Amino acid sequence: METWFFIIVSLCVSALVSSIFKLFKKNLPPGPPILPLVGDLIWLRRPVSELEFILRRLRTRYGPLMMLRIGRRKLVFIASHSLAHRALIQHGGVFSDRPAPLFTSKISNRTLKEISSAAYGPTWRLLRRNLAQEILHPARFKSYSSSRRWVLSMLVNRLLDASKSEISVRVMDHFQYAMFCLLVNMCFGEKLQEKQIKGIESVQRGLLLGFPRFNVLNFWPALGKIIFRKRWKELIQLRKEQENVLLPLIRSRLKRISEHQEDGAAVLAYVDTLVNLILPEENRKLDEPEIMRLCSEFLAAGTDTTSTALQWIMANLVKYPHIQAKLYDEITGVVGSSKSSQLQLIEEQDLQKMLYLKAIVLEGLRRHPPGHFVLPHKVTQDVELDGYMIPCNATVNFMVADLGWDPKVWKDPMEFKPERFLATSSGEAFDITGNREIKMMPFGAGRRICPGLTLALLHLEYFVANLIWIFEWIPEEGDHVDLTEKQEFTTVMKNPLRARISPRIRIH
Ligand code: HEM
Ligand SMILES: *[C@@H]1O[C@H](CO)[C@@H](O)[C@H](O)[C@H]1NC(C)=O
Ligand SMILES: *[C@@H]1O[C@H](CO)[C@@H](O)[C@H](O)[C@H]1NC(C)=O
Repeated sequence: METWFFIIVSLCVSALVSSIFKLFKKNLPPGPPILPLVGDLIWLRRPVSELEFILRRLRTRYGPLMMLRIGRRKLVFIASHSLAHRALIQHGGVFSDRPAPLFTSKISNRTLKEISSAAYGPTWRLLRRNLAQEILHPARFKSYSSSRRWVLSMLVNRLLDASKSEISVRVMDHFQYAMFCLLVNMCFGEKLQEKQIKGIESVQRGLLLGFPRFNVLNFWPALGKIIFRKRWKELIQLRKEQENVLLPLIRSRLKRISEHQEDGAAVLAYVDTLVNLILPEENRKLDEPEIMRLCSEFLAAGTDTTSTALQWIMANLVKYPHIQAKLYDEITGVVGSSKSSQLQLIEEQDLQKMLYLKAIVLEGLRRHPPGHFVLPHKVTQDVELDGYMIPCNATVNFMVADLGWDPKVWKDPMEFKPERFLATSSGEAFDITGNREIKMMPFGAGRRICPGLTLALLHLEYFVANLIWIFEWIPEEGDHVDLTEKQEFTTVMKNPLRARISPRIRIH
């Protein structure tokens, strides 16, 4: 009797204890079972496109909020518009940190000073505000318009030359080069020679595209440096080359600025704004390597993203001639016919009147966002989302492409239909920041939203409008435009666009 009583009581107590425990135990988002630590290494070597494919399969099983556990890391993925809005806008203060920078992007033992990887704090705020207000503010755009005109004329001439020697032109290299010229000019304030620009482009691209190869070093740096010795050396070499091309530019610019302080430099360049910043946490100025990394970040963030988007948009205009014709009609309606003998460029103020153009650019970013994810975010404390607990320090990312392709929000989501952005019922322009509601987020949303958003839209509108006004774009004979995607630093076309380019005007 006593024994029974004892057993029953202890069972009750343990049930009570475990239910109390459950009450306090965090209800983590659903996801597959924990992958063992070796999973870490296998996982790190997978290309992003494969990760995306796996996530889509997991999503059908676990829903739009899921958590993967790899070794000790917790990766949360969000694929719902309302949850993205709740996280990034409503709980913005908790969801805006970044995970510690990877070993391969750090290398030296100093903390890395970059906007995109900086922890959510005073240094990030200072650097971001400097870029956003001094360089990327719409009020500043006008001062770079001569540089845009210069780059556009150069691009037009290169396309003309290419179309004389080839029947169809592969355009991506020309787009990339044009964006590089633009951003290099905004960064260093000089119109550099082709050779110098190509030099910068080549190291920057080497570092970006080398990332998947170098990434294995991040798993266990001390060991990785020995096992992958060749890659390690290659990375050090690339960083050295980066210093060789960028540091002289920074030095010569700063020397000129200090010599000509009284005349006031003609156009403010990004480097100029960096020299006098005082880091709030360390109470000192940025040193040369730090200025270089910020310039490098500026180039990396603004070039391939924009040229990729430009290529996708042009590919759709080649593939769908009726959309191209409608855009051409809109343009001529605003600026008149281009069939005069003199090459004239569309000016920036004219773009404001071209609503179909704006719709095409937005549709391009929805259907083909250059990044299918944002940069990884980190939460700074335990936070509840949709009844689940996102644990402190978890990495959070958003399925950007899937948000733009969701049939619940977009009708016929896989089709290219710029009209969907034309007339919103309220008559207001589409809000791409997602502050009120997120329908797509090619630039992210909330406090970490891309600060280059307005500049990127201007670049896309300006180049698309002019390229369509000056040339007619015709599909390659007997071929179709292949819109298959391939994941690189950005999501590029697997078979880059080739098109016949026929000037609508007699140039020269
Ligand atoms: C079509 C072109 C572009 C696209 C699609 C794009 C997209 C993005 C995305 C998705 C993020 C990450 C947001 C997040 O982590 O939540 C980002 C961050 C960033 N972008 Fe862009 N971007 C573009 C052009 C530019 C340009 C032209 C610049 C500047 C010259 C720029 C500078 C930055 C910077 C500095 C960050 C880091 C922001 C931070 O961490 O606070 N981007 N961009
Ligand atoms: C970084 O390493 C250098 C030597 O390579 C050393 O002199 C310096 O004190 C280190 N700095 C920090 C912050 O650890
Ligand atoms: C989060 O990360 C920080 C820094 O790495 C660490 O000090 C802290 O203990 C972590 N918190 C949790 C709950 O894991």
